[in-house]
Amino acid sequence: MMSHDLPSVALTLVATGKGILAADETIPTLTRRFDALGIRSTEHSRRTYREMLFTSRGADEFISGVIMQDETIRQQSSDGTPLAHVLSNQGILPGIKVDIGAKPLAGSPDETVTEGLDGLRDRLKEYHGMGARFAKWRAVIHITDALPSVACLSANALALARYAALCQEQHLVPIVEPEVLMDGSHTIERCEEVTGSILHAVFNSLCDQRVSLESMLLKPNMVIAGKECTRQASVEEVTTATLRCLRRHVPVALPGIVFLSGGQSALLATAHLNAINRLPGSKPWKVSFSYGRALQDPPPEAWHGKDENLAAGQRAFYQRARANGAASVGQYTNEMEAASPGADDPPHRRDWRDD
Ligand code: 13P
Repeated sequence: MMSHDLPSVALTLVATGKGILAADETIPTLTRRFDALGIRSTEHSRRTYREMLFTSRGADEFISGVIMQDETIRQQSSDGTPLAHVLSNQGILPGIKVDIGAKPLAGSPDETVTEGLDGLRDRLKEYHGMGARFAKWRAVIHITDALPSVACLSANALALARYAALCQEQHLVPIVEPEVLMDGSHTIERCEEVTGSILHAVFNSLCDQRVSLESMLLKPNMVIAGKECTRQASVEEVTTATLRCLRRHVPVALPGIVFLSGGQSALLATAHLNAINRLPGSKPWKVSFSYGRALQDPPPEAWHGKDENLAAGQRAFYQRARANGAASVGQYTNEMEAASPGADDPPHRRDWRDD
């Protein structure tokens, strides 16, 4: 039996060699992804896709938890088992995205604040009753020469902290996700500065709202140059800057940090995680993954919406789960990628996620 007190759930999510699958794309986002592959997006096809991922044999060795969205947590597998139970029956913790998206920030039209606090307590109660044991809320920070504004940092930090406090009150472990986007031509140095500012604001707000750090996880971006920056940073520069930034801003009481992939190719996201875990020096938290695209770029390509390809889709998912499980303990090698279709796709195929 898994223990369900909050610090134990948080530690289970970052158990050695494991990380989280973010399978919480909204219906419009998954539909765009399906459209690009010629797969018809229906409630049935989305359920089949999620069930394919959730039942990939052996993936539970590397996947500690899965983040779903509202439609998925209400769905049942082809044999009538609720998808949340399909996960928990394999020892995988069910999770749920609870924000309702990034909306324009009043007074700063080029920035957003993530909404979803109204009625959140009751929604959390309902999700817990359906089996969810952790939750996710994503704040989105854009970098330009002039942005982010102080208003954007403080509004998003406060919303994240209020969400986290409500989750803990309702017996769910909050994953706190302040994402600094890779969009733009900013340098890695500018990304480090902005990532440091939002982490500083978030941990101040978490403290103000009396959130227990032992009972939450942080889901940050890696410190990386903007996609359009003419000088892309090396793996070594990304890992050094990322770890420096986290050491400066993340308290040691936190049990774990689980990165988002943010539009990096699947292979680079794995290589960066591996290099961060191999870097010498103090790392007081577990450092693992909570990837969406970096785990899910290859599987739908292998599946293509066809029943006869379900096993191929599961193999593609297993491959990424295994590689990232190894990277979470610094034991990933290139040989693990012997045949990894779709893992090193050109950038336009990695841009499908915006929630
Ligand atoms: P990506 O890994 O595709 O960035 O998605 C992670 C996520 O959960 C974004 O909210």
